[in-house]
Amino acid sequence: MLFCNESENSIGIFDSGIGGMTVFKEMLKILPYENYIYVGDSKNSPYGDRTTDDIKNLSLKIVDFLVSKNCKMIIIACNTIAAAAFEDIKLKYDIPVIEVVSNSVNTALSCTKNNTISVVATPFTVSTNIFANKIRAINANIDIKQIPCKNLCPMIEEGWRSSEKHIPALKEYLSEIPNNCDTIILGCTHYPIIIEDIKKYFSGFIVDSAVETSKEAFSILNKSNILNSKNNTSSNIEFYTTGDINKFRQFTENILSTERIFIKKLSL
Ligand code: DGL
Repeated sequence: MLFCNESENSIGIFDSGIGGMTVFKEMLKILPYENYIYVGDSKNSPYGDRTTDDIKNLSLKIVDFLVSKNCKMIIIACNTIAAAAFEDIKLKYDIPVIEVVSNSVNTALSCTKNNTISVVATPFTVSTNIFANKIRAINANIDIKQIPCKNLCPMIEEGWRSSEKHIPALKEYLSEIPNNCDTIILGCTHYPIIIEDIKKYFSGFIVDSAVETSKEAFSILNKSNILNSKNNTSSNIEFYTTGDINKFRQFTENILSTERIFIKKLSL
């Protein structure tokens, strides 16, 4: 049940922390007139080391919050949550719910020229085989290598350059990519934040889900006739974090290149 004018209701985007901001940034390009609520659960990050039940419980609480704010669409801007809880979230709520994994898979399949795809992701995402299963369901002839990168998300969440070990860690994970691999999927929405460093060690196609996910959001809102038509005003954007507000503000300002950011604390 939605209140107010449905088309003016916000799009809810969430992640375990700041990673979903990489999707949000693209959303702002493709759908600049929408209103948004972004939730980053930095206090409980990383989700990638948690159990399925844990991730489901935390993410359902966030979606309950977004639905209580009358969001007209939910974007799961986190591969780990998509792998653990997409079906539960989709079943529980009566609004469109979209996620990032399928969009990366489709893009990677259209990029690879030699049918070799590697996936860098959190340990949880890799353990579910979600990328391999989705890729093989479309093309059984793809060689897939999935690489769990335990420390990347926490290092990005803490401040990528603040640890001396960030480059050695990245090099070690990327060294597992087979030599003939022409396409990698950034299977964690935190990783596009460090794409310039990733490019130094991998020269093939680098796929992140943000653009395709934003296009999917546009297409669903358009078909459902709930695109925000009030395009003479700028977006109303609310940010919520469960973690440290100042740290979250610093990251948000850096990623979105703006200083007009208002963040509220959320307790789950
Ligand atoms: N951005 C999340 C993802 O896409 C990171 C998960 C985590 O907190 O470990 O998987």
